[in-house]
Amino acid sequence: MKLLVTGGCGFVGSNLTHALANLGHEVVVLDDLSTGLRSNLKGLNVEIIEDSILNVDKYRNDFKDLDAIFHLGARGSVPRSIKNPVLTHEVNATATLRILELARLSGTHVIFSSSSSVYGRNGDLPKNEKLWLSPITPYAASKLAGEGYVQAYAGSYEVPVTLFRFFNIFGPRQRPDHDYAAVIPKWIWSAMNNETIQVFGDGEQTRDFTYVDTVLNTLIKTVEEKIVSADPINLAFGNRISLNQVIALLKGHFPNLQVNFQGIRSGDVQHSQNDPKLINQLFSNIEITGFEDALNRTVEWLQQNHTQIVGGPKVVD
Ligand SMILES: NC(=O)c1ccc[n+]([C@@H]2O[C@H](COP(=O)([O-])OP(=O)(O)OC[C@H]3O[C@@H](n4cnc5c(N)ncnc54)[C@H](O)[C@@H]3O)[C@@H](O)[C@H]2O)c1
Repeated sequence: MKLLVTGGCGFVGSNLTHALANLGHEVVVLDDLSTGLRSNLKGLNVEIIEDSILNVDKYRNDFKDLDAIFHLGARGSVPRSIKNPVLTHEVNATATLRILELARLSGTHVIFSSSSSVYGRNGDLPKNEKLWLSPITPYAASKLAGEGYVQAYAGSYEVPVTLFRFFNIFGPRQRPDHDYAAVIPKWIWSAMNNETIQVFGDGEQTRDFTYVDTVLNTLIKTVEEKIVSADPINLAFGNRISLNQVIALLKGHFPNLQVNFQGIRSGDVQHSQNDPKLINQLFSNIEITGFEDALNRTVEWLQQNHTQIVGGPKVVD
């Protein structure tokens, strides 16, 4: 298959690009390298187009014979969106519309990566796909706008789409050292540098962490079996892991780990957990890596490969 991965130099995108290329697929990556790194794709025989997804229309000719588009390019991070809501909207919502417009003209299957943050104010647990949505941050609003366009293009133009909501993904190639780094790589990196890890709140908040390989298995099955769904599918398997549990496991690797608790951060939800009924039904034979095993692999990967991913651009906008 010929596949486009937007955001293919980022965390999920680069892992996916490796997996797809290793399976023998032809992969083209479109990434502006705002948080992604070329070094994530080092040694792979894939085409990298360095440009914004907002300019996707420029490549209409190159992209007319694609089998699928994994649309992973986005301005991630809730705090980053609070700082710059308009740019967040442009990249996450407007560019998604442009990707869909390309797909409308070519009939290409689009796999969209929304986020569990769209539940926002809705405190019901566990989350299922039928619950009401109420974003509390510009990031969540931009992802929900993206979902709306994905569904509209499926409804109005019969574009084949698969709409996933990712929860908290972690694993190799996730950057630990930029301003908006995710909690697991950031803490591992701090621990490796003998720095105190910073916790916002009392550490009792919980997340449904998913290892990146589990996500890749799901995404690859989606294109290989052409699983199409304009109804959202939550991509998480029902974990309820507190940050204090993560810290306890990290202490197994870093016995001298120091922890500092500070005030709650604006936009953070207390608990996030999926009801995995739908994902288990649609992806029954997916191999799922358990949390502890996944955390161990991530620590080992970062210890052995950190020079590949640290020292990239610090995100300031
Ligand atoms: N990682 C998670 O836990 C998580 C959770 C929910 C949703 N998601 C979504 O999954 C997708 C992948 O996330 P990730 O963790 O790999 O993030 P990431 O930041 O590592 O990757 C995003 C990639 O998109 C690129 N990008 C950003 N703006 C761009 C633009 N205008 N044009 C082209 N490329 C651009 C970045 O350079 C980067 O390579 C994103 O859409 C994100 O919103 C991720």
